[in-house]
Amino acid sequence: MQDITATITHKTDNFFKMPIMKKLLSILSISVFVAAMISCHKNAVPPSGTVYLDLPATTYSYYLPSYGDATVNDKATLGRVLFYDGHLSLNNSISCASCHKQEYGFTDNNALSTGFEGKITRRNSKSIHNIAGISSTFSSDLLRRNTPLFWDGREKSLLDLVDRPITNHVEMGITDPDALAPKLAALSCYPPLFKKAYGDEQVTSGRISECISMFMASIQSANSKFDLFSRSHSTDLNALERTGMILFQSTYNCSGCHHLNTSYYTFSDFHDIGLDPIYPDNGWGIISNCSANNGKFRVPDLTNIALTAPYMHDGRYKTLDDVLEHYSHNIKNSPNLDPLLKTVDGQPRQMNISTEDKMALIAFLYTLTDYTTIQDPKFSNPFKVK
Ligand code: HEC
Ligand code: HEC
Repeated sequence: MQDITATITHKTDNFFKMPIMKKLLSILSISVFVAAMISCHKNAVPPSGTVYLDLPATTYSYYLPSYGDATVNDKATLGRVLFYDGHLSLNNSISCASCHKQEYGFTDNNALSTGFEGKITRRNSKSIHNIAGISSTFSSDLLRRNTPLFWDGREKSLLDLVDRPITNHVEMGITDPDALAPKLAALSCYPPLFKKAYGDEQVTSGRISECISMFMASIQSANSKFDLFSRSHSTDLNALERTGMILFQSTYNCSGCHHLNTSYYTFSDFHDIGLDPIYPDNGWGIISNCSANNGKFRVPDLTNIALTAPYMHDGRYKTLDDVLEHYSHNIKNSPNLDPLLKTVDGQPRQMNISTEDKMALIAFLYTLTDYTTIQDPKFSNPFKVK
């Protein structure tokens, strides 16, 4: 029974916050509600209350140009199913999508995320898009790209990274990677999906990693208003958005760190922006084993920034206004404060951004929202309840 409740990952978000009686009632009601096992076939009409996999008759096309494999779309499709399946956690309650929700640009809307048995993550969930580069920079060996991931850059290979949330982290509660493959193999929906992707039904941890990685690598985002404007001028920015762009690029030099070209993300830059005078989290300093890097975090990609609140590695700011207030008046004199945020005499360079400028900057940041990615069915939850 637990197996089945798990696939309704989005509905279990508040589960851990419930008192125990409510929890029991909720398990009971979901169990009654979900009457039968997962059916993999869209056309096999399931009884009402059944969780079933709604996959299209013709497999979606995923954008993975350098992968060069005829089964690429079947692998990414399998990755999509795995990404949304709560069976990847020990008690079947948490899927990758519990913390990486499509509607929030693949983050969640909590400062810190809740994982397996109510355990709280140490940092704010990160968005997932363009993590293998965008089309023009797509790495030929995209799953082993050599640029850092996570707030502190601790992971470089997409393949290793996928093992990590499943096994090493508190988030999903699974400590033995070899236990996951037989668990999934026992669910009716997986063997046929593995057969389609690999030619045989064998479920292995390597295949699980590869498929989730391919699914994530295919999440491309390059169709925001700003993308269209800067790529082809097919959309114009309004006056306020244009002012914001100039403020971002010139006046306040935000783009000194958040680079703005056709791709306004950076992968490998780490900076200390003076959030705290004493670091509660040393970030990149821990990974690089160098105290001069303490308090530095990876420059976040601002794609979909309007959707990914709260902000910063610890989710401390609820709104973009709060973020701008940080740059405006709250930069602390931290040990490794970035030179761009210092005056010539070494003090924090508070930007004193006016209310009008804040409005324009926020209007500009909103033009970085890519609605196509967050609405694209091929990235959506394939589990439906009938
Ligand atoms: C309980 C919440 C939670 C779950 C479940 C979870 N993640 Fe995450 N994920 C996070 C947090 C928090 C971070 C940022 C952690 C950090 O940087 O230290 C993150 C970071 C990432 C990143 C890095 C993105 C980047 O640009 O650096 C990827 C990729 C990712 N997760 C994929 C996955 C996959 C795949 C799964 C499922 C196997 C998964 N996550 C499950 C919370 C979660
Ligand atoms: C010195 C480099 C630097 C400059 C200059 C800079 N930023 Fe940042 N920005 C960062 C880093 C690094 C982070 C992540 C910090 C953390 O979480 O510890 C960040 C975080 C953010 C975030 C939150 C992102 C998220 O996903 O949580 C926003 C929004 C943002 N910056 C906007 C701006 C704007 C607007 C400006 C100009 C007014 C600016 N930044 C100037 C480096 C910089």
